Amino acid sequence: MYNVKRAELSRTAYLPNQLINDSRKGIAFVGRSNVGKSSLMNVLINTKIAKVSSTPGKTRSINYFLVNDKDYFIDLPGYGYARRSESELRKWEKLMTEFFSDDEKLSMLFMLIDSRHSLIKADFVFLEWIIQFQIPIAIILTKTDKLSTQKIQIAIKETREKIQPFGDFEIFPFSSTKRKGIKELMNFIGAVLK
Ligand code: GTP
Ligand code: MG
Repeated sequence: MYNVKRAELSRTAYLPNQLINDSRKGIAFVGRSNVGKSSLMNVLINTKIAKVSSTPGKTRSINYFLVNDKDYFIDLPGYGYARRSESELRKWEKLMTEFFSDDEKLSMLFMLIDSRHSLIKADFVFLEWIIQFQIPIAIILTKTDKLSTQKIQIAIKETREKIQPFGDFEIFPFSSTKRKGIKELMNFIGAVLK
C-alpha cells in the first residue's frame, strides 16, 4: 500500500526543455480531456493541488507532483479534445514525445478511460502511438459512480476485450466522487514504486 505523507507541485512543464530529468521514479496519468485525471490525482495525493474543471482541455501542461520527497505523480495533458488547433496538437505531440522518450523510464503509465464509454477512437489512436515507447501501462476506469455494480462489471469486461490486442493490462475501476477503488489502486502503486 502506497502511503502519501507529503505532496507538492514541483514543476509545470509547457515545453520540452522544462521537463524534469532526474533519477526519481515516476508514474503518470493520461487520458481524454475531462476523463477525470486531475480529480483522481487530487484523491490519490489527498490535496486540492491538481486543477479540476468542467471545461475540457484544462490541463495543457505536464504537472509533476513530488510525493513523499521521493516519487513523481505526473498529470499529463489530455488528448482527443476536438477543439484544438493544429499547432496545439503538434505542441502536444512534441512535448509528449520528449516526455516518453526519457531514458529514465516511467514506472507505470495509467491510462484513464471513462467507464461509461469504455475505449473510443481517440483512446485507440493514443494506444497505437504510445506502444512504441514500451512503457508499462495500466487502465483506470473512471466515474464508476455513474454506473450500477453490474454495469461496472460489463465495462471491465468490454475494456479488457478492447485492450487485449495491445497487452494484458491491469484494470482498476475508480470513482473520485464516491472515493471508490482507492485501496486497490494504492496497493498497486505501492508495488510499482517499491
Ligand atoms: P482535463 O485536464 O481537461 O483533461 O480534464 P481531467 O481529465 O483532468 O478531468 P477533471 O478531473 O478536471 O474532471 C472533469 C470533470 O469530471 C469535472 O467536472 C469533474 O467534477 C468530473 N469528475 C471527475 N471525476 C469524477 C468522478 O469520479 N465521478 C463523477 N461523477 N464526476 C467526476
Ligand atoms: Mg486535468
